[in-house]
Amino acid sequence: MRSAYKTPEIALTDRRPEDLDADLLIFPVFESSSAADASVDEACDGTLSRARTSGEFKGKLYDTFIAPITAPGWKTRRAMFVGAGRTADWTSDRLRRIATTAGLLSRQRHIARIAFVPGDAKIPAPVAAQVIAEGACLANFDGGAYKTNDDPWGWLEHVEISLPDGLKALAAVERGRVLGEYTNHARSLSNEPGNTLTPRVFAERAEALAKETGLKVNVLDENRIASLNMGLLLGVARGSQEPPRLVVLRHDPPNAVPGVVLAFVGKGITFDTGGISIKPAQDMDRMKDDMSGGAAAICAMAAIARLKIPVRCMAVVPMTENMPGGRAVKPGDILKSAEGKTVEVLNTDAEGRLVLGDALWYARQLGATHLVDLATLTGAIVVALGKSTTGLFGAPAAWMEQVQRASERAGDRSWPMPTFDDYKDLFKSEIADFSNTGGRPAGSVTAALFLKEFTGDLPWVHLDIAGTAWAEDAKPYQPKGATGVGVRTLVELALDAETWSKLDLTRDR
Ligand code: BES
Ligand code: MN
Ligand code: ZN
Repeated sequence: MRSAYKTPEIALTDRRPEDLDADLLIFPVFESSSAADASVDEACDGTLSRARTSGEFKGKLYDTFIAPITAPGWKTRRAMFVGAGRTADWTSDRLRRIATTAGLLSRQRHIARIAFVPGDAKIPAPVAAQVIAEGACLANFDGGAYKTNDDPWGWLEHVEISLPDGLKALAAVERGRVLGEYTNHARSLSNEPGNTLTPRVFAERAEALAKETGLKVNVLDENRIASLNMGLLLGVARGSQEPPRLVVLRHDPPNAVPGVVLAFVGKGITFDTGGISIKPAQDMDRMKDDMSGGAAAICAMAAIARLKIPVRCMAVVPMTENMPGGRAVKPGDILKSAEGKTVEVLNTDAEGRLVLGDALWYARQLGATHLVDLATLTGAIVVALGKSTTGLFGAPAAWMEQVQRASERAGDRSWPMPTFDDYKDLFKSEIADFSNTGGRPAGSVTAALFLKEFTGDLPWVHLDIAGTAWAEDAKPYQPKGATGVGVRTLVELALDAETWSKLDLTRDR
């Protein structure tokens, strides 16, 4: 099996572009030409300005243009210009995506040593260093893990980032490298098919990652899960030959922010057939990525440990298949959660909220003070927000705002959705406390409200990543396949714990 990603060497430099020794220099270029372009344009014998005039390359976002450097004083002999769009729309996420775009094109051409020259990007040096490092790592991902017969692209081996006042940004480069690496790790887990990544294998992979990074790990098997009375998780697992697992990872640093235990609860359905309420055949293969929330939670923990972030955190990931089978849960069946609440299962395909119900309760038992769950939960969120924006639900609003800001810094865009109590009528049950589906109207909201039943009175956010975990269409900065959404959001949130630990996040219920 070929490796899914490689983390390149990344170095900061304050050398001028002409003194950089690489195979390719990379320059973001805005639509409006700037003074910063002039010297490299001259080094390329005016090729850049001629391309602008002819219309071949106008700096439109993610357009690219390669030109030979003819000036004798320059060590590197080629430049790649990457369109940066309008200056007014410039963000650090665009810089991150430009780095990925350039990295992917370099790899396609088997160019291994590249240097970024962000120029006067109006982004603080540490932020620029971090996002370029992230973007370069994200480019070094290969989705063809099981191919044996094609000629793969090359890897980026060495990436230099030229920032005049950036030599102090070493910690930022390290952050970017670790964030990129563990986002790629999450992508590789999501890409694994249902037959290679069963619940047991997923748990082993989490355990291995924990050992590598110094996290505490506890894997609960089916007996332990049963002794905790997790009837929702067990109910979903009933239809499968593969036993379920519940993985708990902990990061417990000595210098932790006081009073905070941040818990990430991730949906870990290693394959979702829908169960007895079986899904149509069309695109069912996609449901191998129904553990992307769990992968994000686990990989974020690994990154937090590697970066020694001083905040106590845990990941709680329920892992199971959702299969039809002779013993599978049937529509109309009643399940009892570990917390004691009863659920009428009206649709066995609404399994994510079931396994998360028990996992959210368990995170509270383990002492969580702040909850964030991530789940490829509903098709309805794709209808509401499409493929580019994660649905953000929760309470109180101040906690939602913290998570949204973290997602913005991370380049994982999210947007708030309501959880008004009125919607609870949609999943009433005659026979049990409530049912597991509210039908088509507000499908993502009722799913979120179901989860809310298991969050006690803790500050809680639910991220519905059903639209964002998988890219259907290739973009210049994102090939088709798993995106690793959520990993960087969770780490950015942990990095900011000092700030939000002081907020009053009492929930008004
Ligand atoms: N894993 C799916 C949600 C999903 C759909 C993720 C499409 C990615 C792409 C989830 O378990 C599911 O099946 N949800 C149902 C809920 C319904 C039965 C209430 C859905 O969205 O149709
Ligand atoms: Mn389902
Ligand atoms: Zn699912």
